[in-house]
Amino acid sequence: MDSAEKTVAFGERLSHTLKGGDVLALIGELGVGKTLITRGIACGLDIKTGHVSSPTFTLIQAYDCTIPIIHVDLYRLEHPLAILQLGLEDYFTHQNIVIIEWADRLLQILPSDYLAIQLQHGDTETSRHITIRATGPRTTSIVNALHGAMGQASTD
Ligand SMILES: Nc1ncnc2c1ncn2[C@@H]1O[C@H](COP(=O)(O)OP(=O)(O)OP(=O)(O)O)[C@@H](O)[C@H]1O
Ligand SMILES: [Mg+2]
Repeated sequence: MDSAEKTVAFGERLSHTLKGGDVLALIGELGVGKTLITRGIACGLDIKTGHVSSPTFTLIQAYDCTIPIIHVDLYRLEHPLAILQLGLEDYFTHQNIVIIEWADRLLQILPSDYLAIQLQHGDTETSRHITIRATGPRTTSIVNALHGAMGQASTD
């Protein structure tokens, strides 16, 4: 992705392959674009109210979209116990899409079949590399659908 807009557009394309019950783990440094991908997904699913941002005080935000989105940011939770106390498993239902920024802080909280989305800075200020990885049958079908939609095997 060579611009912020393209990263948002990637999130929108990804949104069209998602359904309730999907869990997305966003992994990458500060300011790499995790929230922008989330914004793209929420736009793609017709977010009705509110604004997708990196939550400052709330760790969990819910967005009213065609499929409800639960947006979690673990950045401020250094301690694994504090993450466990969030009780995230209650949100892993067939109704919701759950998107977790800094999911690598505690991978054990994730269900067995989640989509790992790794973002990295590229050579220039505005370039990013996005790598998606499936961990089970459901997320493998997401990856296949996304690659089919993009007509290529790379998400760069
Ligand atoms: N190609 C790009 N893709 C995504 N963001 C980009 C790109 N180029 C520049 N940016 C800028 O990088 C920033 C990404 O911010 P964003 O809040 O999405 O990051 P984040 O990974 O959620 O950070 P944090 O860890 O602080 O939550 C924005 O200011 C955006 O304009
Ligand atoms: Mg963020």
